[in-house]
Amino acid sequence: MKAAIIGYGKMGREIERILAERGHETALIIDLDNARDLDAEHLKGIDVAIEFTTPATAYGNIRTCLECGVAVVSGTTGWTDRLAELQELCRQRGGAMFYASNYCLGVNLLFRLNRQLAALVGRLGGGYEVRIEEVHHTQKKDAPSGTAITLAEGILENLPGKTGWVNFAPGIEHAANRVERSEETPADRIEIRSVREGMVPGIHTVTYESEDDILELRHEIKNRRTLAQGAVVAAEFLCGKQGVFGMEDLLK
Ligand SMILES: NC(=O)c1ccc[n+]([C@@H]2O[C@H](COP(=O)([O-])OP(=O)(O)OC[C@H]3O[C@@H](n4cnc5c(N)ncnc54)[C@H](O)[C@@H]3O)[C@@H](O)[C@H]2O)c1
Repeated sequence: MKAAIIGYGKMGREIERILAERGHETALIIDLDNARDLDAEHLKGIDVAIEFTTPATAYGNIRTCLECGVAVVSGTTGWTDRLAELQELCRQRGGAMFYASNYCLGVNLLFRLNRQLAALVGRLGGGYEVRIEEVHHTQKKDAPSGTAITLAEGILENLPGKTGWVNFAPGIEHAANRVERSEETPADRIEIRSVREGMVPGIHTVTYESEDDILELRHEIKNRRTLAQGAVVAAEFLCGKQGVFGMEDLLK
């Protein structure tokens, strides 16, 4: 597989290592200093581009890949209100695109357990209130995390009585759907609490609390390797295919 890496930051560098380990060639690396090179000429002969950049640049990068007829795997978070638009473009052009808010296998198992637990609580009741907490390193640009949003969406699809989510993110200026104080969270919203500290790669906890007990689903990523490996496996899966894919397709 001849790959392009778009975004040579923490994830891009880890992805380069995994590509080499798995016998693939990294033929093009794009970062801020050569962002203009992301064009048809430089993408010629590339089987798949792997994109991990920023919320402000992901849309344009993925669009360029699709317009140049190059399969693209992206994991950039914080911009996915426009994801459906690109998925439609991909279908129209007969291209190939893979997106996941989290490429870690364990997190994708957590997504399944989370949906099942929400449905069970929805059926059984028990007076539980649900909340989500995500903890990440201080350089993270978006809040809440894409993973926390996927968890909230999984609960919203399965637990009656909740109609949306809000973000309680003390000290984080750019948080989406922000509430200033936890007490401001309306009863029909799921509260996602975002915490930024140290070098934490990612901890997600879904908590159900009643008057009598607390039930938690918790996942902690120990390093970025698992995320980069998931993205490279997704790229291998995508090669030679047409269509729009996600982790559910890969895990089938
Ligand atoms: N889906 C997942 O599993 C997963 C896992 C980890 C991180 N992420 C997300 O991936 C993104 C990147 O994470 P990171 O930890 O590597 O961040 P990072 O800040 O270390 O790296 C981002 C890189 O993108 C570069 N960049 C900025 N604009 C660019 C452009 N126009 N073209 C090319 N490169 C550009 C930056 O210079 C930087 O090197 C973030 O949105 C993060 O939340 C997703």
